[in-house]
Amino acid sequence: MSGAVDDAVLQTIRTRRVIRALTPAPITREDVATVLDSARYAPHAGNRRLHRYVAVTRPALLRALRMVSPGMLQRPTAAIVVCVDWAKVKGYGFAPTNPGPHIDVGTAAATMMLAAHAIGLGSGPVTSFSRVAVATLLGLPDPVRPELIICLGHPAAEQPPPMRRRNGTSWADVIQWDRG
Ligand SMILES: Cc1cc2nc3c(=O)[nH]c(=O)nc-3n(C[C@H](O)[C@H](O)[C@H](O)COP(=O)(O)O)c2cc1C
Repeated sequence: MSGAVDDAVLQTIRTRRVIRALTPAPITREDVATVLDSARYAPHAGNRRLHRYVAVTRPALLRALRMVSPGMLQRPTAAIVVCVDWAKVKGYGFAPTNPGPHIDVGTAAATMMLAAHAIGLGSGPVTSFSRVAVATLLGLPDPVRPELIICLGHPAAEQPPPMRRRNGTSWADVIQWDRG
């Protein structure tokens, strides 16, 4: 591993953590836009725009999102909801079983979380939420389905301990070089 490489991008990748304790300090619209814009640079299957991103900044709407999201342990001061437009997916000719649109949600989310960390914001992904309730709250048209929420905020000084890895698997256990 190139652990000795002193590179700003690698440092950002290695130091990002899911942040679940956030301060109530608001995030500037410019910072939310910076995070949002970073998703443009994530790789997307077929390089099509099959996704939609909803930036949520209004406190009342953030509170409502939280009420329908059991996995949202933090109190974000902004959130970006990554959605897939399933009508566009069909129109593009992807079979419903094609994993591309879901993988794209992951590439966009990872890129936005790294961008957030790069500008000093805390972030955390949430997939445990009611798709129907979030779509209703955001007024999304039927084929646009929310798939993942990125919570954003300023990190609090004290963070809860990271989620414990339950099965004791080490990194080396999940790596294979060439044919096993
Ligand atoms: C697809 C996906 C869904 C996740 N859903 C949630 C969630 O609903 N709530 C939550 O607190 N964390 C969620 N996480 C965050 C993981 O728990 C977290 O990445 C993991 O504990 C490792 O923490 P780290 O990224 O700080 O190393 C999710 C992560 C991914 C990739």
